[in-house]
Amino acid sequence: MTKLWGGRFSSQTDILAAQLNASIAFDWRLAPFDVRASSIWAEELAEIGLLSSEEHQQIQRGLEQISSEIQDQSFQIKPDDEDVHTAIERRLFELIGEPAGKLHTGRSRNDQVMTDFLLWLREAGGILENALREVQQALIDRAETDLGLMIPGYTHLQRAQPILLSHWWLSHFYPLQRDRQYLAFLLKQANLCPLGSSALAGCPYPINRFRLAQKLGFDAPMPNSIDAVSSRDAAASFLFFASLVSVHLSRLAEALIVFSTTEFGFVELPDAYTTGSSIMPQKKNPDMLELTRAKAGTTIGKLTGFLSVLKNLPSAYDKDLQEDKPAVFSTFDSLSLILPVISGILRSLVVNPSKLSAGLDPTLLATEIADFLVLQGIPFRKAHRLVGELVKECANQGITLLQVSAERLAKIHERLPGQLNRLLDPHLAVERRSQFGGTSSESVKTQIVQAREMLHKLY
Ligand code: ARG
Repeated sequence: MTKLWGGRFSSQTDILAAQLNASIAFDWRLAPFDVRASSIWAEELAEIGLLSSEEHQQIQRGLEQISSEIQDQSFQIKPDDEDVHTAIERRLFELIGEPAGKLHTGRSRNDQVMTDFLLWLREAGGILENALREVQQALIDRAETDLGLMIPGYTHLQRAQPILLSHWWLSHFYPLQRDRQYLAFLLKQANLCPLGSSALAGCPYPINRFRLAQKLGFDAPMPNSIDAVSSRDAAASFLFFASLVSVHLSRLAEALIVFSTTEFGFVELPDAYTTGSSIMPQKKNPDMLELTRAKAGTTIGKLTGFLSVLKNLPSAYDKDLQEDKPAVFSTFDSLSLILPVISGILRSLVVNPSKLSAGLDPTLLATEIADFLVLQGIPFRKAHRLVGELVKECANQGITLLQVSAERLAKIHERLPGQLNRLLDPHLAVERRSQFGGTSSESVKTQIVQAREMLHKLY
């Protein structure tokens, strides 16, 4: 078949070159959006008299037919279909003949592809926003269910201070909230209509770009036709958004992998979200969490790869820009799998309270002793050193802080022996952190209330 642009060519495209050039293998998912944008475009052409009402009706009927073929997957992609736009136009011609050739009046695939892409992005963004909210909801529910349970909080993966497990769950809620805020921002920024910009210079026919934009659900037309066809900020921002979400999820995934080891045993991962070993019958492997961790790497790769494509590109459309779609679509696909899997894991994992409390050894309360000494008037630096020395002695003697003699404690401060048990109580240590944002039960309950509100109002 001859190409839609075949007029000035006297020989066929080389087969391999055509394969390299074609995007149909990965842009077909734009088909429903292409049809929708084409239908509105046809309306505008009819409005200014470039289509007779007869031709307009034929085009709309043809597009409806194509739309149902797309939906029921009976649309036949032909080997010569270069991309989604040419495939649909080719089919329209098969269905209605000559009037199909009028649809492309005043538009170019350059403004067409960006319009389709933004329409898709709006829908994809909605799907991810819901999936993110589900993960956040699961984190809040966990925080509520697990209220009262303490775990050792870690820094450098070394036991640091006791915290409420709920506080820790919520520490993974807030990053996802910022991700949703960022998503809303990027979708808002991307909600300007490129259609009507044509190849680069703008449309020579008096179509109403404002009405066109509004009909397609955009806030307004893009104000500069060159920018409209050459910007891929929406794709880059989406990839950044996805990278940050993946990074956030990878940190949660890594923690759950560690927490589910026999060594930690804080949580047991549900069977539905683990795999077995082909050789070791006892194994239950956290593959899904590992893949979540890994996808952060490959997603960041897509972001940096695509930014490198954009860097130094000559003005307006270049075929390089076609690379936005494999990067964005594969990122969307993996994220839309990861998010519900993470929700499922959060909802069904089992927390092991006895393992949690076993991790709360008295050394985690060393800071409490130093803080007590501060209240007795000892400068914090000095208090820190005195307690540090005490901890070192305990380690050398193989005893815990609870086993230090009253005599030794009194050398640090006369009131210390009488206070030690209270100071080394992890519950009291947790409840002492009742400041806004701290780990006390009151503070965590405040976070839960706030988090629930944020699920619905973003800020
Ligand atoms: N498949 C192309 C893309 O994704 C559509 C735009 C083609 N434009 C062109 N001037 N060849 O970018």
